[in-house]
Amino acid sequence: MISLVSKRANVAAAAVATLRLATRAMLVGAALALLLPPSGLASAADGALSRDDQTCLACHGQPGMEKDMAEGEKLSLQIKGKAFAASVHNAIGCSACHADIDLAKHPAADKKKQTLREFSIAKVAVCRQCHEDKSKLYEESIHAALLREGNPMAPLCSDCHAPHAVLAKAAASGPIAEVPCRKCHGAVFKAYAQSVHGLARAKDSNGGAPICADCHRAHDVTAAASGNHIKEACLACHFNALQLHKSWLPNAAHHFEAVSCPACHAPMAPRRVDLKLYDSSARERVAEKSGVPRFESRAMQADSKGQGLDALALQSLLKEFNHDNGDTILRGRLEVDGGPEAHMLAAKGKAIKDCKTCHREGAAPFQKVTISIVGPDGRPLRHGAQQDVLQGPTSIDSVRGFYAIGGTRIKLLDILLVLALASGIAVPVGHLSLKWLFRKYPRQSSVPSAQENSDSASDKNNS
Ligand code: HEC
Ligand code: HEC
Ligand code: HEC
Ligand code: HEC
Ligand code: HEC
Ligand code: HEC
Ligand code: HEC
Ligand code: HEC
Ligand code: HEC
Repeated sequence: MISLVSKRANVAAAAVATLRLATRAMLVGAALALLLPPSGLASAADGALSRDDQTCLACHGQPGMEKDMAEGEKLSLQIKGKAFAASVHNAIGCSACHADIDLAKHPAADKKKQTLREFSIAKVAVCRQCHEDKSKLYEESIHAALLREGNPMAPLCSDCHAPHAVLAKAAASGPIAEVPCRKCHGAVFKAYAQSVHGLARAKDSNGGAPICADCHRAHDVTAAASGNHIKEACLACHFNALQLHKSWLPNAAHHFEAVSCPACHAPMAPRRVDLKLYDSSARERVAEKSGVPRFESRAMQADSKGQGLDALALQSLLKEFNHDNGDTILRGRLEVDGGPEAHMLAAKGKAIKDCKTCHREGAAPFQKVTISIVGPDGRPLRHGAQQDVLQGPTSIDSVRGFYAIGGTRIKLLDILLVLALASGIAVPVGHLSLKWLFRKYPRQSSVPSAQENSDSASDKNNS
């Protein structure tokens, strides 16, 4: 930052020099006299605007100032001086980001033919000069990938940080409604706002409940369904979650692999089984090679009737992928069917606890099945499959176990499940009776029978 400050001083000195020579000096002077109180011309103090910045704002502080772009768009040229003065960038001044503006020749007579979008993209390149680290992270994001593809909705730095009103991070945790992601992900925001986290965050923005960037990161945002980064974010805050689930859920670690957290914690959301193509020798998900799309065409070909892949078609699809990726198998995951729905996380009392929701014939979460591969920008490409691929003898081998649930044919599971249920239930029962014994001793005289050991009594006792 030190080098920046001196750079800034040079820029500022140059700007002052050109200003002195400017043919528009008279005009500027008149505008300044009109707009600024005499004290406003004093040197920049804490939170005050520097003299140079006041010069720019003498024109750009005026409401209604606009520039016509090509194709009829209008660029508002008004900059709110107060907001800028309160922002972190007051310290660097206008010219640090607008070094190309030479007051002697400004405003330029030749009006470049540009769209608003082109203007924004060109201007925002300046952020990189001082924020190399964040820019690098951003370059790796799905948002930057979309920008490179020419997606007009891909966010630039300035879509999330109003360039003339950037607040310090500490001061920026305002109401959740102001989160920059909301503009473009409105449906997700709505679901989030009603979740345990959104409600908690709305009550207390410093209470530790996550907002978008806490689960997705702010700059290196990647496809939500790729990798384990979201689960890892959950577990970084809820670090004892696995331990707590183990107390009632057998094979809790296996469930954490095979079932996404929202699949149980967004109880009202529709669910599906996604069978992900997985390269078991490279130990990673099979990804579409850029420029050589294979998945869509192969899936369409195998699914000639367009009714979803059946077990045979799925096997032939796998065979094709086995030609280029040595050992392609399927890895199943039970997840929420829909982006906004994945955010409807409810309080723990509402989470799905009943084993039968999933472990019984014809269980609802297993009625929708998709096959997926990692697409070019990290988002999955999906193709529908028929429900019976989960049981078909051809896929039993490749699905490697995922068939076991919601199946009708595999009786072995029923036996396994009965065993698991027995041991699973034994744990909480054991806990309860221990607690009961434990509590009974000091309260022997006041507790006539175990029946009266109600939850409310124990709550009071604990507090
Ligand atoms: C004399 C009034 C005046 C002053 C002083 C002034 N501007 Fe401008 N500025 C304009 C006008 C008028 C336009 C619109 C030009 C057009 O329509 O092409 C403009 C356009 C701009 C634009 C839009 C992009 C472009 O190049 O057209 C930027 C950015 C800008 N000014 C920044 C600044 C900065 C930074 C300063 C101070 C260093 C400054 N201006 C000082 C009048 C002024
Ligand atoms: C942190 C860098 C930065 C600083 C400091 C800065 N600007 Fe900008 N400015 C930008 C960027 C980026 C844009 C393009 C915004 C967009 O996408 O429209 C811009 C755009 C503008 C525009 C065109 C209108 C608009 O909003 O797009 C004007 C006028 C302008 N700036 C004037 C100023 C003035 C006056 C100051 C000082 C008071 C200033 N800028 C300080 C980065 C900066
Ligand atoms: C999709 C929205 C989004 C985009 C695009 C974005 N940011 Fe951010 N940025 C955020 C959010 C949210 C935060 C605050 C939360 C955080 O840091 O995790 C933040 C924080 C920052 C911070 C302060 C971080 C710190 O820890 O001190 C800087 C500096 C920053 N961004 C610069 C940039 C630059 C430069 C770009 C463009 C290369 C950019 N941002 C693009 C959303 C975004
Ligand atoms: C000339 C250098 C410079 C340029 C160019 C610049 N910034 Fe900054 N930025 C700073 C300085 C200095 C700070 C305040 C000190 C700090 O926290 O790093 C800052 C702070 C920030 C913060 C808040 C960081 C925090 O810790 O709270 C964000 C966000 C940010 N800048 C975004 C941007 C964006 C977006 C752009 C491009 C439109 C941009 N900056 C261009 C120098 C610059
Ligand atoms: C200017 C618009 C814009 C803003 C602001 C924005 N995004 Fe995005 N984002 C997009 C677009 C467009 C996509 C492409 C997919 C889509 O349309 O949903 C996308 C994709 C994503 C994805 C990947 C979706 C998937 O299917 O896996 C995530 C995650 C994401 N954004 C998170 C965020 C977060 C977090 C923020 C705020 C820090 C944010 N976005 C701000 C436009 C935006
Ligand atoms: C098979 C369904 C299921 C899955 C998968 C699941 N949970 Fe849970 N979770 C529950 C249920 C049911 C409860 C409530 C337990 C209770 O009432 O004691 C719970 C409780 C919690 C709690 C509250 C713990 C406490 O006692 O305070 C947190 C936090 C939590 N889960 C986070 C997660 C995270 C993070 C994941 C993913 C890594 C996850 N859960 C996966 C069903 C599940
Ligand atoms: C508690 C963590 C968490 C928070 C907070 C969160 N998300 Fe998500 N987000 C997720 C999970 C989990 C998924 C689904 C991932 C999957 O498919 O496995 C997801 C998926 C997404 C997707 C992809 C949707 C799709 O169509 O597939 C987008 C976009 C997104 N989130 C944006 C946001 C935005 C914007 C916010 C803030 C309003 C936000 N998220 C807050 C965890 C979170
Ligand atoms: C930044 C930390 C953070 C992250 C990341 C996070 N949480 Fe939370 N979570 C919290 C806090 C804090 C609360 C308590 C909110 C409150 O005050 O009610 C909470 C509450 C919950 C609850 C309700 C617990 C109860 O007692 O009813 C569940 C369930 C939960 N989180 C699941 C998740 C899941 C699933 C993820 C990932 C998709 C996740 N959390 C990500 C911090 C986090
Ligand atoms: C939200 C759905 C869901 C709920 C609720 C659920 N499970 Fe599972 N369970 C699964 C999935 C998916 C698998 C993975 C199957 C596979 O990999 O073949 C699984 C696997 C299992 C396995 C086999 C583990 C192994 O290592 O092969 C057992 C045993 C099991 N669950 C018992 C239970 C019990 C007992 C409960 C209730 C306390 C329960 N499950 C609740 C979805 C669920």
